[in-house]
Amino acid sequence: MDVRVGTVEEIRSEGCRVVDVNGRPVGVISVGDEFFAVSDRCPHMGASMCTGSLSGTLVPSGPHELVYGMDDRVIRCPWHGWEFDLASGRSLLEPKRVGLKTYRVTQHDGEVVLHT
Ligand code: FES
Repeated sequence: MDVRVGTVEEIRSEGCRVVDVNGRPVGVISVGDEFFAVSDRCPHMGASMCTGSLSGTLVPSGPHELVYGMDDRVIRCPWHGWEFDLASGRSLLEPKRVGLKTYRVTQHDGEVVLHT
């Protein structure tokens, strides 16, 4: 099913827009020229991920070395700070056990379209 989310300009200016997909909230998030979509319900206690923040995190760059990376690719829950990879939806802390459902998003004639 395809869901029209809004115009590219609208979603870019809002940063995140929540749409209803079969009774479930999905957050469509603008980052630069790209769009991502994740479940808008945090798996911990259900906070809206759209009201959270985007940032990066420390990633390995060599043996015993970390550098800041994944800028604006990490979404942080506003309630207790759980962090998720925006592209994969996986938790940074427990990627095998915890995650947000992700969806494909495309642009067509200036519109943002969510594919479910
Ligand atoms: S509700 Fe998201 S971390 Fe607790």
